[in-house]
Amino acid sequence: MMICSYNILTIDDDPTILDAYASILIPYQKTSLEDAVLQLEELHNIERSDIEPIEKSMNFKIYQANNGLSGIDIFLQKYKEGLTIPVCIVDMRMPNGIDGLETALRLKQIDPCVHIIIATAYSDRTNKEILDALKNNTYYIRKPFNSEEIYQLVYSLSLSYYATKTIQQLNNDLELKIEEELEKNRQKDLLLFEQAKLAAMGEMIGNIAHQWRQPLNILSLLFQKIYFMHKNNSLDAEIIDSVQNQAMDTISHMSQTIDDFRGHFEPNKEKVYYDLSSVINSTVTLLEPSFNLAGVSIEMSMQDGIRLYGFADDLKQVLLNILNNARDAIVSNKIADGKIILKTMLMSDAQEVFIKIDDNGGGISEQNINKIFEPYFTTKHKSQGTGIGLYMSRRIVEERLNGTIAASSVNQNTSFGILFPITTSLKDTDGK
Ligand SMILES: Nc1ncnc2c1ncn2[C@@H]1O[C@H](COP(=O)(O)OP(=O)(O)OP(=O)(O)O)[C@@H](O)[C@H]1O
Ligand SMILES: [Mg+2]
Repeated sequence: MMICSYNILTIDDDPTILDAYASILIPYQKTSLEDAVLQLEELHNIERSDIEPIEKSMNFKIYQANNGLSGIDIFLQKYKEGLTIPVCIVDMRMPNGIDGLETALRLKQIDPCVHIIIATAYSDRTNKEILDALKNNTYYIRKPFNSEEIYQLVYSLSLSYYATKTIQQLNNDLELKIEEELEKNRQKDLLLFEQAKLAAMGEMIGNIAHQWRQPLNILSLLFQKIYFMHKNNSLDAEIIDSVQNQAMDTISHMSQTIDDFRGHFEPNKEKVYYDLSSVINSTVTLLEPSFNLAGVSIEMSMQDGIRLYGFADDLKQVLLNILNNARDAIVSNKIADGKIILKTMLMSDAQEVFIKIDDNGGGISEQNINKIFEPYFTTKHKSQGTGIGLYMSRRIVEERLNGTIAASSVNQNTSFGILFPITTSLKDTDGK
C-alpha cells in the first residue's frame, strides 16, 4: 500500500486538544501482539486471519502551535522551504494574541489554496461570519468532535488540495507549452517573411542589372565619342553640350530605376488609395526588360478605374511572385513564344476584384498542383527557388486582402486567379 505523507498544522491553546489531533491523524501502528500472530501464521502457512492491519493510506505529519501567531510562523517557514501544508485545523477562540478567524485569514494570504478547518466549542462569531470572511476552502467543526469525521475530513481535504495544485501545475505547464509553440510559429513566420523578401529582392536586383545594361552601354559610347573627337581635335562646345545632355538623361533614367526598385521594397507605412492598373503597370514595367530578354511577352487587358485602399506593396509582392514563376516556367521549358496574359476585372456587381494571370510555360502536373501553395514546395534547383513564393502569396491574399488565390493548369498553360472583395479594401480596416 502506498503511504503518502501530508503536512497538517494544528493550532489550539489547549495542549490536550493538540494531542488529540495528533493521535487521530498519526499513522496506524501494528501492536506487538498483532505482529506476533502474523509471524506465527506465516511460519505455519496458516491462512491469513482477520488480524490483517487496516493500514491507513495517509501518513500525516503533524505540526502544532499553541497560538495563532506561532502557527502562522510555522506555516510561513514551511511555505518558504517549499513544504506545503494542505490543511490547518485552527481553534476559534485563543486567549493570547489573534483569534482563529484572523489566523485563518493570514494563512490564506500566504497560500490561498490552503484548506482551513475552524474548530470551536462555542463561537463569538457566527458560522456565516466565518465562512464569509474566509470564502472558499473553509470548514467548520464543533467540539467535542468525532475522531473518524476529523480523519476523513483532513484526508479528503489533503487529497483535494493536491488535486487542485496538480491541475494548476498542469494548466501552467500547458500555458507555457502553448506560449512556446506560438513563439516558435511566430519565429518561423518571421523567417519565412524574411526569406520571401530576400528572394524577391534578389529577383529585383537581377531586374535592375538588366535595366542598367542598356544605359551603361550608352554612357560608355558617349565617353568613347568624346575621347576620339578630342583626339581628332574635332570636339567643340556644341558636341560637349549634346553629350552632356544625353549623359544626364541616361543617368536620370538609371536613377529612376533605383527609385522604382526602392519604392517596391520600402514597406508602406500607411494604407493609401491606389489605382489597380497603375500598380500593375509599374510592376510590369519593372520586370519587362528582363522578361523581354528571356523572350517572354506580357499582354495586359485591364478594366480601368479600379480604385483600392490598403497596402499596395502586398499586391505587388503577389504579382511579382506569380509573374516570376511564369517566366521561370517558360524559360526552363524552353517555350518559343512565351506569353503571359494579365487581366483585371470587377465582379459581383463591382463588389469584388478579379486578377487573372495566364501563361503558356508548360503547365503544372496534376500531382504538383495541390502542393504549390505549401511552404518550401519547389521543383526548382536550390539556387533558383526556395518554394515560399506562392505560400507567402496565398497568406498575403488571405490575411491582408481577405481574398482567395487559386491555380489551375490545362495542357501547357497555367492560370492563377486572385479574387478579393473591394469593400474590405475600400473601407478603413486599420488595425485589422
Ligand atoms: N506558372 C507556373 N508554371 C509552372 N509551374 C509553376 C508556376 N508557378 C508555380 N509553379 C510551380 O510551383 C512551385 C512553387 O512555386 P513558389 O513560387 O512557391 O516557389 P519557387 O518559385 O519554386 O521558389 P521561390 O518563389 O521561393 O523562389 C514552383 O517550384 C513550380 O514548380
Ligand atoms: Mg516563386
